[in-house]
Amino acid sequence: DVSGRDDQTILQVALENELSIPRLCYLTGLSEWGGCRLCLVEVEGTNRLLAACTTLAREGMNVHTATPRLESYRKMILEMLFAERNHVCSVCVSNGNCELQALAQKLGVDHVRYPYLYPNLPVDASHPYFLADHNRCILCTRCVRVCAELEGAHVWEITARGIHARIAIEMNENWGHASTCTSCGKCVHACPTGALAEKGWATEEMVKKIDTVTSLVHRRGVQV
Ligand code: FES
Repeated sequence: DVSGRDDQTILQVALENELSIPRLCYLTGLSEWGGCRLCLVEVEGTNRLLAACTTLAREGMNVHTATPRLESYRKMILEMLFAERNHVCSVCVSNGNCELQALAQKLGVDHVRYPYLYPNLPVDASHPYFLADHNRCILCTRCVRVCAELEGAHVWEITARGIHARIAIEMNENWGHASTCTSCGKCVHACPTGALAEKGWATEEMVKKIDTVTSLVHRRGVQV
């Protein structure tokens, strides 16, 4: 039994009560987007699976956060994320410090049942301090939201739809030429994978300071 406020989501109530629900697009302090679907839960009384990060908790709700059905969906979602881009962990700056990799290990994803798409994607290394590797992006939009909601710069966006969707800067400008980027690095540290990274780190060296991002939210009292 747990209690929460009526403006809290199932995920927020769970986290406040030290109950873990898998998630990738959610980041404490940013608006909820509900895009990755890893936080799906079963709520008694409905057959639909609901995203814990966007569903408000209600009095008397009975929520199942870990069932065989949920685990099989979560594994399927992770496998599709791996198949969609080129996540070669062994040569990634975030190897060992990646939320996607950690979740896959935790949920026992030891192989991928879907054909790899091997898209031919660029790496934008035009910024003096950072780089964007589209091969490792899972389109969680944390970069888009942290830049808009915390930094107020609105540099990042999503272009195109479906399989062609990409994170982009200033209508597909190179990062190094983006006049609105303040080089604050919040997008880099909010990114759960090695898609956005600081330059100068070798494989396994890039550790994201996710706590810095969330503590900034609390210190500034940002309302989203
Ligand atoms: Fe809820 Fe991504 S964390 S949909």
